[in-house]
Amino acid sequence: MDEFIPVSKPSITDLELNYVTKAVKSGWVSSLGSFLTEFEEKFAKYNDVKYAALVSNGTVGLHLALKGYGISSLDEVIIPNFTFIATANAVSYVGAKISLADIDPNSLCLDTDNIKNYITDKTRAIIPVHIYGHPANMNIINEIASENNLIVIEDCAEAHGAAIGGTKVGSFGNCGVFSFYGNKIITTGEGGIITTNDHEFYESIISLRDHAMDKNKRYWHDKIGFNYRMTNLQAALGLAQLERIEEILNRKLEIFIKYKELLGEIHYLKLNQTKIGYKNVYWVIYIIVDNLNLDKRDKLMDNLKRLNIDTRPFFYPISQMMLHDVSHDYKTPVTNQIYSKGIILPSFYDLTDDQITYICSNLLVQINLVIK
Ligand SMILES: Cc1ncc(COP(=O)(O)O)c(C=O)c1O
Repeated sequence: MDEFIPVSKPSITDLELNYVTKAVKSGWVSSLGSFLTEFEEKFAKYNDVKYAALVSNGTVGLHLALKGYGISSLDEVIIPNFTFIATANAVSYVGAKISLADIDPNSLCLDTDNIKNYITDKTRAIIPVHIYGHPANMNIINEIASENNLIVIEDCAEAHGAAIGGTKVGSFGNCGVFSFYGNKIITTGEGGIITTNDHEFYESIISLRDHAMDKNKRYWHDKIGFNYRMTNLQAALGLAQLERIEEILNRKLEIFIKYKELLGEIHYLKLNQTKIGYKNVYWVIYIIVDNLNLDKRDKLMDNLKRLNIDTRPFFYPISQMMLHDVSHDYKTPVTNQIYSKGIILPSFYDLTDDQITYICSNLLVQINLVIK
């Protein structure tokens, strides 16, 4: 195939162009404007929560969520060892220690059987990550959290629209944090949103995202806040994307089904797994290949790139980077075993079935060459 197939690409239609043009023409180009309010209201409704607060990106959304619940250097926070670095960084921004928990080998989300091992008298919060579009086991996580008085912050960056038994992610925990980065299910370029039913927390985060300015006394600040606001231009793009979310999710599912048709029976690799009763939104399609290691994986990815097929590796375990203040040294065997075997395949809305066929046939040839 002559054309390069990227791993990800946003789907932009006339609707997005119209809304963004309208926002630009209105003159409301900064962090006030009707697209911001409408996007927040519609996103809250979509997720069946009372409140949604737009922010500049998902990372600051996580930071704000931790701040909003007063998590500090006295505390410990449980996160999975297998996640994007932002989850861990946000915990470090508030000075808290991190407990790195292992994942379930099928969903790649927190292994709920082991969470209790990580709880100490300093544990204040847990951040389950709905990785690659599969929801973490929120019913068990909420049970453990309520037994141990923990705040639950769902990292929904990769899982817009994902659900368990019809209930959407971002509505299970005390709050949920989504990302609208360019490769996400819906995008605002850069951006994020916090969802919650907790009024007091909502008031606190909307104040903190805007320098914590006193509501009744302009330019008076009782706290050190942040500029974590989103612009009306970004919200215009986001609103158009939200109006198309079901169409985007349907195509994601079709893409997964096509990959499954072509790769599902290959005994030495495994595609995304979905637990019964869970709605996986297949943010990305990945394969986990037996007998792959870091060298072979990189070689495979290089070979595919030469064939115009872009891919991404799995995340490295957070523990390997040794950047964060980690509160324990429990082992995470599943994370350590899986990360070097995973590759993310092109999974974007406009990917055609012919391109998927081309990707799969070349992938199988290259895996066989590399693994031998
Ligand atoms: C799991 C996870 N958490 C947090 C983030 C941070 O979001 P953002 O890039 O919008 O800061 C991302 C994505 O980029 C992510 O994949």
